[in-house]
Amino acid sequence: MNTIVVTGGAGFIGSHLTEAYLQEGWRVVVVDDFSCGTEENLAAVWDAPQLFVERVDIRDGEALRAVFRKYRPTAVNHHAAQKSVADSVVRPLLDQDINGKGFLQVLLAAIDVGVKQIVYASSGGALSKVIEGDERSREDDPPQLISPYAVHKFAGEQYLAMYAAQGGYRYTVMRYANVYGPRQVADGECGVVPIFVDNILAGRPSTLMTYPDMPRGCSRDYVYVGDVVRANLMATAHPLNTVINIGTGEETYILDIYEMLAELFHSDQAIHIVGPRAGDIRRSVLCADRAKQLLGWTPEVDWTTGLQRLKDSLNG
Ligand SMILES: NC(=O)c1ccc[n+]([C@@H]2O[C@H](COP(=O)([O-])OP(=O)(O)OC[C@H]3O[C@@H](n4cnc5c(N)ncnc54)[C@H](O)[C@@H]3O)[C@@H](O)[C@H]2O)c1
Repeated sequence: MNTIVVTGGAGFIGSHLTEAYLQEGWRVVVVDDFSCGTEENLAAVWDAPQLFVERVDIRDGEALRAVFRKYRPTAVNHHAAQKSVADSVVRPLLDQDINGKGFLQVLLAAIDVGVKQIVYASSGGALSKVIEGDERSREDDPPQLISPYAVHKFAGEQYLAMYAAQGGYRYTVMRYANVYGPRQVADGECGVVPIFVDNILAGRPSTLMTYPDMPRGCSRDYVYVGDVVRANLMATAHPLNTVINIGTGEETYILDIYEMLAELFHSDQAIHIVGPRAGDIRRSVLCADRAKQLLGWTPEVDWTTGLQRLKDSLNG
């Protein structure tokens, strides 16, 4: 049986991945410090005989190496991270510590035991180029790099490519659009869908942070977590040694999301518009043609279905 280490496997995306890899017959080792992740996220698989959970901080190289030597995985899927662009602007050294050094520790521990392949969660939104008109950001476009989060995610991509030949592994960089779905939590200023849902359910007004010339908010490409998991399974089966965007190519403004959620939850709460937030890219929408060509991946879940699934998950 093949073993995969899923870093951040108790988090939003990571827990869905853990479930999927178990389903596919992998032995899964979750490495997570539970700073954001929870045991509850793994409740459905907690008793699975092939699930092993290691409470380790990825910045601790020694502890990581011990975990890798204990399980001798053939694959790694790296999702542990400080995930907030806004927090990275306020605390750049923390972002560098987790997303920079932490990832490098994972990479070195993986090379130490001869891991054969690595999937790396990067960000298509934060690494988007400046888009004009109907353009979509492609993998080879120059990224904007306007936040420490973007810089460190990009650096991780470079490390992964740089060590590949020497480390003897294949890899895939997954540049996600904004991911949404069940188990995503409203965390600080991160995750507009759960933030709005929480406000609506609590009967609170929401806030739209935007630039003065963008009254409907910044735009993003949003992809449902189930589609992201499917892309990860495909990349694990066929590592590409390149970067792929995982998005829908559909540009959605933040106010569009608020309106869809208000309708779905029958809410008439107000939304207040305030000034922009440092580090925020104005528009981002991804071209995922490469994922289609190289993996045969296309998104399958549209907004209506995705938000309904999210609502259903909240009702248990
Ligand atoms: N959610 C999105 O829209 C999105 C978009 C682009 C990229 N990503 C990337 O996908 C990955 C997963 O994001 P998510 O939304 O599931 O976030 P999340 O916070 O739910 O998951 C991250 C997990 O990493 C763990 N973690 C954090 N610091 C750690 C450390 N030092 N050591 C060990 N574990 C640690 C957390 O406890 C958590 O379980 C991240 O790398 C993020 O940057 C997410």
